Amino acid sequence: MARYLLTAALPYANGPIHIGHLAGCYLPADVYHRYLKAKGDDVLLICGTDEHGVAITLQARKEGVTPQELVDKNFKIIHEAFQGLGIEFSHFSRTSREIHHREARSFFLDLYNKGFLKEKTTSQFYDPVARTFLADRYLVGTCPHCGFDGAYGDQCENCGTSLSPDELKEPRSVLSGSVPEKRETNNWFLPMDEMLNLPEFAKYTERITRWKSNVKGQFHSWVQQGLQPRSMTRDLDWGVPVPLEGAENKVLYVWFDAPIGYLSATKEYMELQGNPEGWRAYWESEDSRLVHFIGKDNIVFHTLIFPMMLAAHDQMVLPWQVPANEFMNLEGRKISTSRGWAVWLHEYLRDVPGREDELRYTLLCNLPETKDADFSWQDFQLRVNSELVAILGNFVNRVMVLTRKLSNGQCGDLPSEDPNTAHGSLSLELDSTGKDIRLAMEQFRLREAMAGVIHLARLGNRYLAETEPWKMLKNDSEAASCVLRVAAELCAELCIALEPFLPFTATRLCSQLQWYPTDHDREAWWSTGLRCTYLTSGKQLGEPALLFTPIEDDFINAQVHKLQSMNDQNPQTAPTPSDPTPSDPTPSDPTPSDPTLSVPNSSLALKPEVSFDQFASMDLRIATILSAQPVPGADKVFEIKVDLGDEQRTVVSGIAQHFQPEALLGKQVLMLINLAPRKIRGIVSQGMLLLAENREGQLVLVGPSGTGIRPGDKVS
Ligand code: 2FM
Ligand code: ZN
Repeated sequence: MARYLLTAALPYANGPIHIGHLAGCYLPADVYHRYLKAKGDDVLLICGTDEHGVAITLQARKEGVTPQELVDKNFKIIHEAFQGLGIEFSHFSRTSREIHHREARSFFLDLYNKGFLKEKTTSQFYDPVARTFLADRYLVGTCPHCGFDGAYGDQCENCGTSLSPDELKEPRSVLSGSVPEKRETNNWFLPMDEMLNLPEFAKYTERITRWKSNVKGQFHSWVQQGLQPRSMTRDLDWGVPVPLEGAENKVLYVWFDAPIGYLSATKEYMELQGNPEGWRAYWESEDSRLVHFIGKDNIVFHTLIFPMMLAAHDQMVLPWQVPANEFMNLEGRKISTSRGWAVWLHEYLRDVPGREDELRYTLLCNLPETKDADFSWQDFQLRVNSELVAILGNFVNRVMVLTRKLSNGQCGDLPSEDPNTAHGSLSLELDSTGKDIRLAMEQFRLREAMAGVIHLARLGNRYLAETEPWKMLKNDSEAASCVLRVAAELCAELCIALEPFLPFTATRLCSQLQWYPTDHDREAWWSTGLRCTYLTSGKQLGEPALLFTPIEDDFINAQVHKLQSMNDQNPQTAPTPSDPTPSDPTPSDPTPSDPTLSVPNSSLALKPEVSFDQFASMDLRIATILSAQPVPGADKVFEIKVDLGDEQRTVVSGIAQHFQPEALLGKQVLMLINLAPRKIRGIVSQGMLLLAENREGQLVLVGPSGTGIRPGDKVS
């Protein structure tokens, strides 16, 4: 049993949280926390609101309230929203609490007494009209990297680059709009350049080779650029007062105090547990693993500054992993709170009650683990309707309804163990998928782990399709009852596998089965892969009920409309495309360059090389064509229905000028099934059929010629 202290970036209490925050760190932190708990590890997940800094004072000013009023309001909204979505923290605190102020001051004094904080006089920007120094976000100007004219003194939110005030071009004061002047002031600096050589820190950097490449990349680029001493105090009146004489009207830099919030919140939690010294096991013991879940804009603070602070403090553990995510965009554009281009969690929970897992699922399928990702309402609808409803919900429902029909909801006997039967091969596939899921979890590939769990249900559907218990109900009820028992066991297994990802669904499924996993069941499945017999012969299952219901077009249209109208109310600038060539999700007419269509490519020239990872990310399957029909008004495309073994899909394919519809029926083709869906001629196309183009420019089916290949089989 390992011991873990997980942290999720403390959200600024300057506003509610949106889906970008969730996908960046809170959902991954929650899933990983639930996973470790299920595995039987000793784990805490710590979070709370970050209530200091200029992000708070600026927003309070904008809303005409005091900073305290602002953070009180937002703490409540944020905390309730997390609870609503099932984000379960061991403890959720606030940095405005007395325990945090005490801890931050004592941490600062400790570093000061050890000589790690050096007083320096520097000239800083000063607003002569507002008569105040302009820290960080009180200063705006033009970003030297991307030219964005609204970059802050500490960061450009357009390109994500961290900045220092002197780098900004044409700086001006946010308070009065005036051009600032330079004035001298004293502050206390962390000598980051020297601290790189602290033995504890140097030892810590060895583990960075195991980290994600985006995190490693940022870490090395900061170090290579050459680190400079960085001020840990600010001339402001909101924050933790600097505990030194001669530092009146100065507070700790928010990025000094906020990560200490992880420590003060752990202490607060332990005090509430009646174990005030309990925090030491997580923060001071060598076998404790500190994992920071953050978004990419927080990497430097969690891999360099905070670890240096910890290394300089007494015997503290340094991060074991920092699985930072990239950004989540919305409908192909950067999320922007000021432009209203966001989906707010508290609004989603209010407007779409009872669909918490649908949002969790869509975000988990699109986590920006290796690169920026996108959330769109159309994808949400498709994920829910063709995966949660059609694969997971459908499997469970078939098992429940058929068992009710056959034996009034009572479980039958298990068949005898025989690897050469359908249930034998199901069992092997479940073992191997379970192994993939566990490996993905260990490596923080949660997106893949989520897909693996849905694959378990897909295997269940395939098993039912092969055994066809509905045909046996009358003639061979014993065989049908064995098949349904195997399938019911898989439903129980799904309760365990789903819990970290879709906890509401796992609970609903347990109550349908009238079966609840024990800690031992969970631990066996998650830590060793041991699949137990969960149910018993004769056990009465509960009432069948739909786990998920489809999302209607009207709902999606209303959400898109809401987004658009919010954006229209804040039209100061158009939403920033997340990509220089954003794809239009609803092209009116497919053209030969439409990537959803397989169309003749007249050039045989080689395309640029792709990495193995790019190749491996493509999910290629065998599909059987069930029907093909012309699409009115489009002479190049067919609407084609295909069978993928455990599901059917629709593809709009630009092959109409090469085939008669009937010539395609029953043909097996290769299909790319994880291509992002697109609406073409009003039809959602869910993948791409792959055909060859011969030298005469004719498209030719390249179906499999081997025997024993079934729809849904993988191509690799
Ligand atoms: O970026 C943010 O939202 C910061 N409030 C994160 C702070 S994380 C930690 F250091 F507290
Ligand atoms: Zn920029």
